[in-house]
Amino acid sequence: MNQTALITGGAKRVGKAVAEHLAQQGWNVIIHYNRSAEDAITLVQDLASKYPKQLFSSITANLANSHEVTSLIPNIVEKRGPFDLLVNNASMFNKGDFSATSEQLFDSQVNVNFKAPFFLMRDFAKACKKGNIINFVDTRITNNKADYAAYSLSKKALWEATKMAAVEFAPAIRANAIAPGVTLAPADKDEKYLQELAQNIPMKKPGGTEPILKSIDYILENDHLTGQLLFADGGENL
Ligand SMILES: NC(=O)c1ccc[n+]([C@@H]2O[C@H](COP(=O)([O-])OP(=O)(O)OC[C@H]3O[C@@H](n4cnc5c(N)ncnc54)[C@H](OP(=O)(O)O)[C@@H]3O)[C@@H](O)[C@H]2O)c1
Repeated sequence: MNQTALITGGAKRVGKAVAEHLAQQGWNVIIHYNRSAEDAITLVQDLASKYPKQLFSSITANLANSHEVTSLIPNIVEKRGPFDLLVNNASMFNKGDFSATSEQLFDSQVNVNFKAPFFLMRDFAKACKKGNIINFVDTRITNNKADYAAYSLSKKALWEATKMAAVEFAPAIRANAIAPGVTLAPADKDEKYLQELAQNIPMKKPGGTEPILKSIDYILENDHLTGQLLFADGGENL
């Protein structure tokens, strides 16, 4: 039987690339979305017509809302049983250095980027009992630049939680993280902005989604790997 993955924020950008990649490898995919209902439905339809023997569905939840977070996995498991892979990809990325961070900005980043993945990991372990967790962090966790203070702290915390989950949930569940760097331009910036940013990293070009997808393959294929962080960042962390 095909394995099933839940991808948070899977309707667009990196999450969509992960969904397409896993589908191509024979996975059933559950696309979680918040605002991108249309993109999620279109993606499910496209994947279903391309891979008719696999199952694709979408589910919505606002991961800033703790009730919606804690009902997400129980709802899925009640409908279709345990699944095999949780990809915590959904994220908020909002600017604000330490002194400019309001409580509202802090809560938005921490709730979506750290608190939600924490409880989704807890619920995945409880309801699914075995499988894999892959958390998206950011190469920024290796530095102390404060321009996105709350965002960076939320991702640092998620990396720490990944290691803790790896210890507690082993050997039935492996938990690993991927740290992208210059990957895709934010919605309000263009490709030129990304190319300019990339001039500051060792590999001098944006990674796109390819290094991330290869990191996912490496994690899934290596059944002794847990609690590890793969940098898909062209050397930026160095
Ligand atoms: N892109 C990069 O260059 C880069 C660099 C470093 C790290 N990363 C990390 O890699 C991952 C993917 O990056 P990305 O750029 O593709 O992410 P993104 O476009 O910024 O966000 C992915 C999805 O997160 C979902 N999301 C945001 N707030 C939510 C909420 N309150 N409830 C539920 N879902 C919510 C959105 O879903 P809806 O559209 O459905 O609302 C969005 O499409 C992220 O974890 C990011 O931090 C990316």
